[in-house]
Amino acid sequence: MDFKQDAGILVCLLEQYLEESREKRKPVLELPKLAELIARLDLEPFVTNGGLTGAALQAFLHRYLGATTRLHHPAYFAHQVAVPHYAGSLAAMVDGFTNNPMAIYEMGPAAAAIEYFIINWMLKKAGWAPMPQVPGEGIPGGHGGGVLTHGGSLANLTELIAARTRVAPDVWETGVPGDLAILAPAQSHYSIARAAGILGLGKRAFYPLEVDEGGVVKPDRLTAALQRLSADGRRPMALVANCCSTAVGRYDPLREIAAFCREHGIWLHVDGAHGASALLSPRRRALLAGIELADSLIWDAHKMLRTAPLCAAVLVRDHRNLEGAFHQEASYLFHAKRQPGVDLIHRTVECTKAALGLRLFMVLGAMGERGLAGYMDRQSDLAQEAYCFFESQPDFSCPAEPQSNILCFAYRDWNEEHLRMRDQMITDGTFYLSTTQLNGRWYLRLVFMNPLSGMKEVEALADRLRKSERGG
Ligand SMILES: Cc1ncc(COP(=O)(O)O)c(C=O)c1O
Repeated sequence: MDFKQDAGILVCLLEQYLEESREKRKPVLELPKLAELIARLDLEPFVTNGGLTGAALQAFLHRYLGATTRLHHPAYFAHQVAVPHYAGSLAAMVDGFTNNPMAIYEMGPAAAAIEYFIINWMLKKAGWAPMPQVPGEGIPGGHGGGVLTHGGSLANLTELIAARTRVAPDVWETGVPGDLAILAPAQSHYSIARAAGILGLGKRAFYPLEVDEGGVVKPDRLTAALQRLSADGRRPMALVANCCSTAVGRYDPLREIAAFCREHGIWLHVDGAHGASALLSPRRRALLAGIELADSLIWDAHKMLRTAPLCAAVLVRDHRNLEGAFHQEASYLFHAKRQPGVDLIHRTVECTKAALGLRLFMVLGAMGERGLAGYMDRQSDLAQEAYCFFESQPDFSCPAEPQSNILCFAYRDWNEEHLRMRDQMITDGTFYLSTTQLNGRWYLRLVFMNPLSGMKEVEALADRLRKSERGG
């Protein structure tokens, strides 16, 4: 095995992969049958004999890359997954090599310091007071807190655990009270309902908030929702607002929602997994006006911050709410010791954890926060331009004006035909987009993640749909 040689092979192949994807020399994706693909990848001999190095490694990587979904391809419009900046991918490699699971400081001081720094950077963007440079100092409760975790779903769960502990401080001793409930729009990302299940609240504890046609919370209907919950003899554990929603990409009105939550002493959790990155853009931050009044926020860097997977932030306005969220004892980790840094392990579901902050930091280091804000703006402007284009065509329509880089649209009066069309485009490898249901109808859904995608692709997509009607 020769590290330098094998790494060189990898870099050459990735460079080639990048070029052929960007230049559309390969389809955006292919979907071979599972068994066929396992056979094509030729895995078995290596498991038995080893030897995956040099020419064998090169051949394997060639097979592997040939069967990937190409996010760097300008016809990639499907999901809210970052087209990673290579700097973040290099960070993931550094982390994979050094393997410093810095949930306790001594296991990875550089990674832990970067995570602490990144959390503070995000807290400041949300308008919350950062953690003190010397952990433990500063005014108690006078600052925010946070941790990075593996993905938005886990981040939502972590925040709701914190909310549960605040409402039911004895929960770790006595178990979950039967009267807790969560208020959230029905179309919230499924990780919210799943978290309610994991937390032991049960499906019936999920009280949907009333929304408008675009799935946005109606603030004047919040009181009615709370009354329904109270009439059932329940207590609100948290209210979840989406900034922005997964399906349609629109923002709930935080200022009004926050005022309501303050008035009723309800924990306001903001799911900003996709849309909190608007905080970086002077043109877009108003979409999150009122965030400074929320109790918690999640923010995924592996969505709109071009960061290699995964890097999700769990942020709280008052750090004590996160510090108290988990209770644990483990003499092999938690004991008296010289502590020049901070152990982040008390704030997460995880024990061993990757150096997630490094991934985001290296992207920031390459693009700068203004570069990332410019990316956000460009992608959202493109969604707006695509919206105007579809709305100006007699045979296309959109159910809602975009507020982010997510755009849903319909061809003619199609409903489930959109699902079949999507399958066709995946089969011929021309476009990769997603679909969503809104008010009982299926729509095609574009997520503008790729900085190389433009109106050229949108217009070609419209032609592709029209051609399909003519039997093309
Ligand atoms: C609003 C929202 N919250 C949470 C998530 C879950 O994030 P992850 O896929 O990182 O678990 C998503 C994913 O698309 C999302 O859109």
